Amino acid sequence: MMYWPGIVEAYREFLPVTKETPVVTLFEGNTPLVPARRLCEALSLPIDLYLKCEGMNPTGSFKDRGMTLAISKAKEVGAQAVICASTGNTSASAAAFSARASLPAYVLIPDGKIAVGKLAQAMMHGATVIQIDGNFDEALALVKEITQKYPITLVNSINPYRIEGQKTAAFEVCDQFCGGGEAVPPDYHFLPVGNAGNITAYWRGYKEYYQHGKISFLPKMIGFQAAGAAPIVLGHVVDKPDTIATAIRIGNPASWKEAVSAADESKGGILSVTDEEIIAAYHQLASIEGVFCEPASAASVAGVIKSAKTGMFVGTGSPRPKVVCTLTGHGLKDADFAVQTCKAPVTVKARLADVIKVLNL
Ligand code: F0G
Repeated sequence: MMYWPGIVEAYREFLPVTKETPVVTLFEGNTPLVPARRLCEALSLPIDLYLKCEGMNPTGSFKDRGMTLAISKAKEVGAQAVICASTGNTSASAAAFSARASLPAYVLIPDGKIAVGKLAQAMMHGATVIQIDGNFDEALALVKEITQKYPITLVNSINPYRIEGQKTAAFEVCDQFCGGGEAVPPDYHFLPVGNAGNITAYWRGYKEYYQHGKISFLPKMIGFQAAGAAPIVLGHVVDKPDTIATAIRIGNPASWKEAVSAADESKGGILSVTDEEIIAAYHQLASIEGVFCEPASAASVAGVIKSAKTGMFVGTGSPRPKVVCTLTGHGLKDADFAVQTCKAPVTVKARLADVIKVLNL
């Protein structure tokens, strides 16, 4: 392939599209799979860790994979407008693809609980942004009701095309490991869980590659929720979810059952990490590996670190299991949080002597 055509063209045979589908693309996908050797060394992790950097998608998150398909299919059936509830990234992606498709977009977000970069994206791309005095779960309930009553297309991950598009990330991981030969899956795949669409999508992707004989085994799927927003781990809805990882501040995930199936069928699990663990992994990724993701994304790596401590990778039969962590969104989405959690820069007079004094020479 001379250039990357976006996920619909790259994986057309696996997707519900026809020649008639007008493909709305920002050339999403083909994101880097970055080895994290220094992090493994620094933290004595007995694994080969790879970071699937989904923040490198056009709007800075994995949502673009599902959105290209959801918006293309909406266009195909002549939808008049689209709507979604969002903790931020879905709204940014929906707004961008809708702009490209010339479709009005409406987004409902929890007031004050989304990263400013994501809000800026939705506004810049011309979506009608409605902030609600409530959380994501309430916003989702509202948009579901609206789409039942009015002719407007829902583009949250309960729209089946979203999951279909997102499953291409699993194909890509296997293709990236193949190095020109046969596609190879990882032994473990870790990812943050919010509304639970992404873990559902990856599992579907891996299973389809397996069914098509492209890979010879399936990875264990391990999802991590934030401790203050961990309904699946607790086994009940959380009415007031709370975490610094606003992207996964969700108390009643739409794809709850599917996420549990992915974990069960793959002999993986859904677990939780605290905000402290998330923040530590967030900083370690940036300072040790040079990879800047948003806080929610770091839940996957915090999960790997925690799992290593509890012995998950001991006695696996493989000397160093291959582990992929999906980093779902770019760190620049939430620059405020980064600045708040770093040491403040020093301020000095604009004089050589004063600057030299602060250098470690
Ligand atoms: N990481 C990031 C950065 C996210 O934005 C999300 C979800 C997740 C992880 C969790 O993925 O919901 O498929 O389990 N964000 C949604 C949104 C809810 O509205 O942008 P999930």
